[in-house]
Amino acid sequence: MIHRAHPADGDAAAVGSGPVDQGHFRRIMGHVPTGVAVVTAVHEGAPAGLTVGSFTSVSLDPPLVAFTVIREARSWPSIEGARAFCVNILAADQVELCRLFSSREAAKFRHLRWRPARSGAPILEDVLAWVDCDTEQVLEAGDHHLVIGRVRALDIERTAPPLVFYRGGYGRAEAGEPG
Ligand SMILES: Cc1cc2nc3c(=O)[nH]c(=O)nc-3n(C[C@H](O)[C@H](O)[C@H](O)COP(=O)(O)O)c2cc1C
Repeated sequence: MIHRAHPADGDAAAVGSGPVDQGHFRRIMGHVPTGVAVVTAVHEGAPAGLTVGSFTSVSLDPPLVAFTVIREARSWPSIEGARAFCVNILAADQVELCRLFSSREAAKFRHLRWRPARSGAPILEDVLAWVDCDTEQVLEAGDHHLVIGRVRALDIERTAPPLVFYRGGYGRAEAGEPG
């Protein structure tokens, strides 16, 4: 039996051949819920970081993770220069931190408490978990860099619901029954 998808809202104009409308692309991709993380690095003594929704695990053996970063990101030169980064997984009560690191604010760390991971990259206070990486590979992917990291250390900081980004807003996820 063939099940046909009926778009819940909006048209399906971009399906098939022809250019994909950017607004349509954004709106459809907004239907994919993501976790929210802050990727940090220290380069030439200065901490830098940005909010990402693109963090994902890639490989177990060797342990690899990835995220994408827009080419114009102000924090990119630091992450690139450090050749290492730390991914801080945000909790549902850290929307403010998410907003700070998704802003173009120059001094994002001014009022923050953090400690350095093995790589030197900041582990932000009260995050759910962190993953410290050396940069393994950077691939050019359209208007973003696709950054692959080799995991060097990782841990859980506290137990709380994670922050979830979905259709332009913030929510939380609850732990379900073990699958
Ligand atoms: C929930 C959320 C997810 C985001 N995900 C990404 C992402 O995966 N990659 C990216 O480059 N920017 C992402 N952004 C946007 C950046 O955080 C934003 O461009 C920020 O200004 C970058 O900071 P910087 O220019 O100081 O590096 C996201 C923003 C939000 C709110």
